[in-house]
Amino acid sequence: MHAFAALALAFASVALALNCNGHNELCDRKYSNVTFVGAHDSSFVGILPADNQLQSVTDQLGGGVRYLTAQTHEKDDAIELCHTSCLLLDTGPLQDYLGDIKKWMDGNPNEVVTLLLTNGDAIDVNKFADAFKTAGLDTYAYTPGAELAMDEWPTLGTMVANKKRLVVFMDYHADTSKVPWILDEFKYYFETPFDTTDKNFAQCTLDRPQNASPDGRMYIVNHFLDIEIFPGVLIPNMADAGTTNSVASILAQTDLCYSKYQRTPNVVLLDFVSIGDAMKAQANMNNLA
Ligand SMILES: *[C@@H]1O[C@H](CO)[C@@H](O)[C@H](O)[C@H]1NC(C)=O
Repeated sequence: MHAFAALALAFASVALALNCNGHNELCDRKYSNVTFVGAHDSSFVGILPADNQLQSVTDQLGGGVRYLTAQTHEKDDAIELCHTSCLLLDTGPLQDYLGDIKKWMDGNPNEVVTLLLTNGDAIDVNKFADAFKTAGLDTYAYTPGAELAMDEWPTLGTMVANKKRLVVFMDYHADTSKVPWILDEFKYYFETPFDTTDKNFAQCTLDRPQNASPDGRMYIVNHFLDIEIFPGVLIPNMADAGTTNSVASILAQTDLCYSKYQRTPNVVLLDFVSIGDAMKAQANMNNLA
């Protein structure tokens, strides 16, 4: 065999070995046709009533989670990751959290990660961009040329090859005329209700954006359970997380969703994602062994 042919073969096998989020098969799938099991309120780590997760964001990523949500609030002119109020729980500046993600992504070049940020305080989106730049994470951000229809998303393989493998969404007050890579969540997704106390998750209702059509939107299923400790006071239900995050419980709800919308959810958000079988459920929904 010619040396050249051998070299070509070697390249071909490298290309074949390309692996996206742990699976060759996912390289050819459009972002909009992949299901991610995500960590809800990923920065609220601990065992206090206002915490939603047990592992650090780096460990969540290490455990296979590729979809992270985080809640932001304004404090002394800075963006902090606080739960409802910075007086209740403040887990530090956004840029530190982004720095942890940047570090992890640097070391894991075949992984596509999504970040969904809330912006209940209507902080200027340019300030968010500054935090990403400080952390160096803006360089990975995927920028669509224009608003994408569902079938116009690139494949995970393209995102990995182009090194644009961080997708950023914001629930409210995104402005792509100012920051083109912080995408308006509700242009792209609808969500089912959150903060339910129904252990059976016996619904797959479109909750937000209100009165919108599910057609043409990806969708997020909020599969995290709350418990009411006082009238009107809900906290994450850690005691039942093993059951809530079992394959059986997740698929019972997502099967219901499938029968309603004729497609698998794009995102299933969990509290205490390190408990239960999040990754097994994700592989199942993606039809991966
Ligand atoms: C991906 O496409 C397949 C085949 O059309 C479909 O069954 C599945 O529900 C889709 N998954 C998502 C997340 O859109």
